[in-house]
Amino acid sequence: MGHDTVETPNLSFGRGGAPVRSTPYARYARLDELHSLQHPLGKEPAELSFIVTTQVMELLFDLVRHEWDIARRALREDDLPAALAALRRGTHAQDVLVESWGLLATMTPQEFNSFRSLFGEASGFQSAAFLHLEFLLGNKNAALLKMYDGMPGTQDGLVEALRSPSLYDEALALLARRGLELDAQPSEQRYRPSEEVASAWRRVYSEPEFAALQPLGEALLDVAERVTRWRQRHLSAVKRTMGGKPGSGGSSGLTWLRKSAEQDVFPELWTIRDEL
Ligand code: HEM
Repeated sequence: MGHDTVETPNLSFGRGGAPVRSTPYARYARLDELHSLQHPLGKEPAELSFIVTTQVMELLFDLVRHEWDIARRALREDDLPAALAALRRGTHAQDVLVESWGLLATMTPQEFNSFRSLFGEASGFQSAAFLHLEFLLGNKNAALLKMYDGMPGTQDGLVEALRSPSLYDEALALLARRGLELDAQPSEQRYRPSEEVASAWRRVYSEPEFAALQPLGEALLDVAERVTRWRQRHLSAVKRTMGGKPGSGGSSGLTWLRKSAEQDVFPELWTIRDEL
């Protein structure tokens, strides 16, 4: 079959075949702006993949936040199916986030060193989108808001996330409304595991009366596992490209990141597994 027998899509847009400055596709996806945002600071070709990876991850952080916000709201409204659907969509976005580390898989210390000094004190540690996700998970830390003094738009969104119940808080509130004994109150501090919460989840997993809540526990575990996977892949990328040197954001680097990768997200969902 030749090319001319294949049906082709519409090739002229706009009225009367007049010249147009962009395609409908380019306008919808804002491609001119999107493709104008990659500006390597040096001559090292690998720097482009570093910038693209960072930008892709930033977009995905926001997408995950979007789904977790929907899940939080659905939990608050006692709509378990809608919450599970949002968490599931978020989980797929998290998988892409984890796999995005592949874009940096071949970067050598020499390549990284060649542009590291050019970006100065820039560090993913300053990512407001990432911090927002941390707050939604319950890993709250008000002191970090100081980074955004003078950036009210950014800071306000984070203050809101700090003050409102986390995804886990909303899940626990739903468990309480469904008859589990729970007095856990949302807090502006970092979430601390408790025996009361462990006992509630234990009952969800062992008593038929609460079995309908088990898919929520499993969906939260899917989220938790992928957060840790992202941290572990980050750790490997750091180990490979800069070893144990201090970070550009002022931390000890590997030691600091390793500690955070070792902390379980939604801890009771993991600890009760010893007994199930
Ligand atoms: C090879 C590339 C990378 C290296 C060597 C690296 C290194 C580091 C280091 C050393 C830290 C600790 C804070 C500091 O002192 O700077 C850090 C934190 C962080 N980085 Fe990266 N990074 C890399 C790529 C990325 C990318 C592509 C992203 C995506 C946005 C990212 C996001 C983050 C985030 C969110 C944190 C804070 C982590 C937390 O609070 O637990 N990093 N990075």
